Amino acid sequence: MDGRLQIFAGTSHPRLAAAIMEELEAPLGRALVGTWKNGETRVKLDENVRGSDVFVIQSVCNPYDHHLMELLLITDALKRASAARITAVIPYYGYAKQEKKTSGREPISAKLVANLIVTAGADRVLTLDLHAPAIEGFFDIPVDHLRATPLLARHLRRELEDGVVVVSPDAGGVARAEDFRVRVGGSLAIISKRHPDPDHTEILEMIGDVNGRVAVIVDDMISTGGTLVLAAELLRERGAARVLATATHGIFAGDALSIIDRSPIEQLLVTDTVPLPDPGIGSKLQVMTVAPLLAEAIMRIHKDLSVSVLFT
Ligand code: R5P
Repeated sequence: MDGRLQIFAGTSHPRLAAAIMEELEAPLGRALVGTWKNGETRVKLDENVRGSDVFVIQSVCNPYDHHLMELLLITDALKRASAARITAVIPYYGYAKQEKKTSGREPISAKLVANLIVTAGADRVLTLDLHAPAIEGFFDIPVDHLRATPLLARHLRRELEDGVVVVSPDAGGVARAEDFRVRVGGSLAIISKRHPDPDHTEILEMIGDVNGRVAVIVDDMISTGGTLVLAAELLRERGAARVLATATHGIFAGDALSIIDRSPIEQLLVTDTVPLPDPGIGSKLQVMTVAPLLAEAIMRIHKDLSVSVLFT
């Protein structure tokens, strides 16, 4: 790619955008991203982007619709200002939990969001741990789909003794948990759960032996915290000596953090793909930044280098 590298950001996660720019040792592109008096989202680029290789950093997180709209309008503005290539950098891809119909008369929201991003003018997407890998196929443009597992496993490996058991809290997460297990050693346990409705979880059974062992639950996201807390309680009931947990996206809807605080989970490691409160002293929550990973991926995409090296 010959064009200049320029990077803009929406307002969803200024701290992460700043950390990525610090890694890249470059300033963020100047733009007005705000709201008109009537409440509509307002965007105005304050830099020439003609012929540039442009990246837009925006997590689609709470408030979801507003952050999505910012991403769409920034992309549209870039397209109309003749950017040569536009990459949407979406550390957290919201609406991903509705990636299929679970009953009649429901939307497939993750597909609609993909359509909107492409229609706005994105040429590529760079994202991290999509809730369902199939969402990658919802785009007819290249998607660089990074994983946080290498990062999280490297960090937790130091805490984990021999005989650890890596736990997938649902059948859909087995591949992720197995990837984690390969990196830290130990064995695998799988919990089967069901959602009587989207914000409620019921645990059905568990396969695997956790008695007397350190268990580490590996998930893609924590939303209400229901899955995690029920899994942790089951692990203690089945004799796990300690319960640790890790997930890429710490959404922490409602009172998720306080129910996790009261749960048997000793330590919870997440990344900063969405804004998080600063964990207080003594908090169970630990946060790792994905800024260096995303910065490296941006640089590699800009230089037309492979990004698969980031998966090891
Ligand atoms: C489910 O399929 C996901 O992998 C997570 O386990 C789930 O989204 C977590 O949601 P919650 O925290 O609301 O139970």
